[in-house]
Amino acid sequence: MADWNASLYLTFEEERTRPARDLLARVPLDQVESAIDLGCGPGNSTELLAGRWPTASLLGIDTSEDMLASARSRLPAARFEKADVATFEAEAPPDLIFANAVLQWLGNHDRLIPRLMTMLAPGGVLAIQVPDNLDEPSHWLMRETATKGPWAATLGDAGKVRERIHSPGWYYDLLAPLGRSVDIWRTTYNHPLADPDAVVEWLRATGLRPFIEPLCDGDRAAFLAAYRTRIAEAYPPRTDGKVLLGFPRLFIVARR
Ligand SMILES: C[S@@+](CC[C@H](N)C(=O)[O-])C[C@H]1O[C@@H](n2cnc3c(N)ncnc32)[C@H](O)[C@@H]1O
Repeated sequence: MADWNASLYLTFEEERTRPARDLLARVPLDQVESAIDLGCGPGNSTELLAGRWPTASLLGIDTSEDMLASARSRLPAARFEKADVATFEAEAPPDLIFANAVLQWLGNHDRLIPRLMTMLAPGGVLAIQVPDNLDEPSHWLMRETATKGPWAATLGDAGKVRERIHSPGWYYDLLAPLGRSVDIWRTTYNHPLADPDAVVEWLRATGLRPFIEPLCDGDRAAFLAAYRTRIAEAYPPRTDGKVLLGFPRLFIVARR
C-alpha cells in the first residue's frame, strides 16, 4: 500500500485520540522509565505518554515515513524510528508497550501478542486498542461497493487487508497465563460528524486505503461516489442535521 497521510489522519485528531486517552487512563503504572508506542502515527498517542510520564524515555515506531516525520516535529524529545511491529524487538525491556489503533493491521495475534508481552519488563504493561468495526455499515459498505463496479477485479482481496480481530474471551485466554492481570472492555463511540462526506473523509485516511489506493483516478472518484451514496443511506441526518458514526473498539490492558 502507499504511505499513510499524516495530515489527512489528523483531520479528526480529537476523535481519533480519545480512545488512546481512554486506554491510557486504565494503565496501572505510577512510574514509567521507558515506553514504546507501536504504530505511533503522527505522535498523538506518544504525546499522551509524554504528558503522563514527562521523564520517561519514549520510543515511537511506525512503518510510515510521513507519520514519522510528523511525529518527530511534534515531539522532538522522543525517539521515532521506522520499524514493523511484526518483527520489532525492543533493545531493553520497556515498562509499557502501548499499541493504539495499529494491531488491526497485523495478523497472527496468537503469536504476536505473547511476543509483545514477554518483551516487557517484569510488572510491565501491554496496552492495546483495536477498532472492532468491520461489521459496521462504514466497513461492510466498502466491501459491498468493491464487488459492484468496474473495479471489482482490481479490488478482489481489498477486504482482507485488515485482520478480523478475535473475541474478548479469546484475548483473555491468550493473556491470562502470561501475566498477573488482564482488563478487557469494549466501547462504542458515537461521533457526531457534519455530514456523510465527513464519514467518507474520516475513512479515507484509514479503512478505505486498501480499497482506493489500487484504483486509477477515474475509478477512485467513481468508487468514492458510489460508496458515499450508500453511506448517506446508512447514516441519516439526526435532528441537528449531523450524522452519527458508530465506532466500536476493543481495549486490552495486561500486566506482566
Ligand atoms: C490508525 S494509526 C494510529 C496512530 C496513533 N497510534 C493513534 O493513536 O492515533 C495506525 C498507524 O500504524 C502504522 N502501522 C500500520 N501497520 C504497521 C506495522 N506493521 N508496523 C508499524 N506501524 C504500522 C501506520 O503507519 C499508522 O501510522
